[in-house]
Amino acid sequence: MKIELNENKIFFNNGQSIQEIHPFWLRERVDGDEYLDKGTQQRLFDPSTMTGEILIKKAEIKNGFLEVNFNDGVNSKLDISKLETEFSNKDTVIKSIPKKKWDSALKNVKNFEFKKNFYESKEMYDLLTSFYEYGFVIVKNVPTENNYIVEFANSIGSVRRTNFGEHFNVKSKSNPNDLAYTTLPLSPHTDNPYRNPVPCIQILHCIENEVSGGYSTLVDGYTVSEKLKIEDPEAYKVLTEVKVRFRFIDKDVVLEDWSELIHLDDEKNFKQVRFSPRLDYVPILKKDKLDLFYKSRKKLSDLYNSKKNRIEFRLSPKDLILMDNHRILHGRTKFDPNEGNRFLQGCYIDFDSTEGKLRHLKRKFKI
Ligand SMILES: [Fe+2]
Repeated sequence: MKIELNENKIFFNNGQSIQEIHPFWLRERVDGDEYLDKGTQQRLFDPSTMTGEILIKKAEIKNGFLEVNFNDGVNSKLDISKLETEFSNKDTVIKSIPKKKWDSALKNVKNFEFKKNFYESKEMYDLLTSFYEYGFVIVKNVPTENNYIVEFANSIGSVRRTNFGEHFNVKSKSNPNDLAYTTLPLSPHTDNPYRNPVPCIQILHCIENEVSGGYSTLVDGYTVSEKLKIEDPEAYKVLTEVKVRFRFIDKDVVLEDWSELIHLDDEKNFKQVRFSPRLDYVPILKKDKLDLFYKSRKKLSDLYNSKKNRIEFRLSPKDLILMDNHRILHGRTKFDPNEGNRFLQGCYIDFDSTEGKLRHLKRKFKI
């Protein structure tokens, strides 16, 4: 990629094509002290209110800088390497971390050890990178006193409070408003598909675990949906098109949201899965379309519930797991409460927390 000049026009050459850069695009990026606050990197002028055509009177390239005189009297020196980063038009931090597909054969995923000054450490950078690769990460030895999970969450970003509270306690109780608060097995699901937006990341922290059952299970929704795309394109297609209704009701609130079970982005790539068959209702559609939908959902469910696709492990006290609730399905095996206590605490954070922290640590460690 490089910048080229030709008679006061500035061009961007990416090796395959050459295109002129709009003068206003450059004018918006002037960064002298009068135009940009150095601390916040926020503009001190409002380009949306500017009138009149912006033209380039003179342009030169010198020592990695593009020096431009605009026709409105503003002169600026723009760092060419910064401009080039913008040409790639990509998120250079999060999207550059490739997702790794995994199933029951997954081995040797690194666990992280909690320690002093953890949140600002290189270790935290590695942890977040691993989180974006696999969709989950386990941290050992996290303090359990005084709802420490909330401090943990707030040290990465901010807790996403819901009607279950700032954090919630997962233990069996009488009159539960969710099956999580029973001793029943929980098949793989994503949390809170009825919220808009769906909480991005679930944090679960094991406080006590005295039972022999109650294993935690995880399935990679990304791997499974990519597998379905290859094995049964028709099923994949209908599950990426039909929006179903998810609803949660208790005495205080009615939460409802509609989504495809496999949600794709604008480029038709994987974006999010929601799966919680206790809560989903498909709208009335033509009978043959529903036929296809039900067969396809069954196929997806079989894949999610297959031992081939899931990992299973026992959480020990002080273990904390971070999982991408838009990618990973979680569940647990049943347990016998007569054997002892099983007590987990949970809370949610959103992607802005982990993304913001990761970009900050990348900047801090100049990675
Ligand atoms: Fe859950």
